[in-house]
Amino acid sequence: MDKEPMSSTEPAVNNARSEATKVEDPAGPLRAARPAQKVSTQPPGAAKRRASRCQINLQAMAERGFLVPNEGRSQLAREMRRIKRPLLLDVQRMELAERAERSAPPNIIMLTSALPGEGKTYTSTNLAVSIAAELDRSVVLVDADVAKRDLTRQFGLLDFPGFADTLRPNGPHPDAVTLKTNIDRLEILPCGRQSDDIDELYASHLMDQTIKALAREDSSRIVLMDGPPILVTTEAAVLVQNVAQAVLVVEANKTPQDAINHALAPLLDHPCVRLILNKTTRGIGSGYGYGYGYGYTYGDGGDDRLV
Ligand SMILES: Nc1ncnc2c1ncn2[C@@H]1O[C@H](COP(=O)(O)OP(=O)(O)O)[C@@H](O)[C@H]1O
Ligand SMILES: [Mg+2]
Repeated sequence: MDKEPMSSTEPAVNNARSEATKVEDPAGPLRAARPAQKVSTQPPGAAKRRASRCQINLQAMAERGFLVPNEGRSQLAREMRRIKRPLLLDVQRMELAERAERSAPPNIIMLTSALPGEGKTYTSTNLAVSIAAELDRSVVLVDADVAKRDLTRQFGLLDFPGFADTLRPNGPHPDAVTLKTNIDRLEILPCGRQSDDIDELYASHLMDQTIKALAREDSSRIVLMDGPPILVTTEAAVLVQNVAQAVLVVEANKTPQDAINHALAPLLDHPCVRLILNKTTRGIGSGYGYGYGYGYTYGDGGDDRLV
């Protein structure tokens, strides 16, 4: 993937970046212009939809190998569809069950992995673009990996309030800090302020409230969380309790079996877990180096199936 700074081709982006962003974001953000930011400090429940927008630089996104809209026939688009469809089918199944049983909101999906660098941010970004192409769904892509904030960095939103801020008492409602984008039906909730007490924030009842507020604000909207890795953070195991579906991204030919086993341990009680094998070697004639392999689910009767 192209990690060159975008200063020559996208001067408007660099002009708009803050000093902090310049230091932390050598590759340049996938954001075209900085929107005006107005932050409400209303607690969850006093929801106010907002009008701020994050202008995504689709050309830069494509250049860096991400899926962009209207790329329906590319290999990456096909792979994302194969990953997306079973996830959305399970949301639908849980929606029906929720109506019957009044259980947790079904429209929350989190990507996690055993170790950093296995492809959570890359996959969740592509998956979000793919889900946004659904006509009767929308998606909010949440950066819940507070230690790395790569998703937030990728879109040039490091100095924006976000998810972590909503977990504080009297913090903003999550929809007050969620940004609309120029991709139809795709919103981004940046990571927000970093702090040392993030584990405690994640474990607090406000986490549960925040995620439910996001999910219930619009039940046709998928809350897609780019989560932290399980083996090097304490947050992931806590966070996973609050999501309807957990997806473990596994880097093909790299993640040791032991690491996968340890990562699965806190997920064993979870009702719906999937594995995605990432960075599998693509066949001859494919566009670039590696893509997605297969995954399988367990939970809900333990039915193994291809993703
Ligand atoms: N399927 C893929 N194809 C191409 N590049 C990938 C793929 N998966 C991950 N990458 C690249 O690998 C690196 C690590 O991926 P990333 O999504 O940041 O991992 P994580 O979020 O799990 O820490 C990034 O540079 C990302 O762009
Ligand atoms: Mg990441």
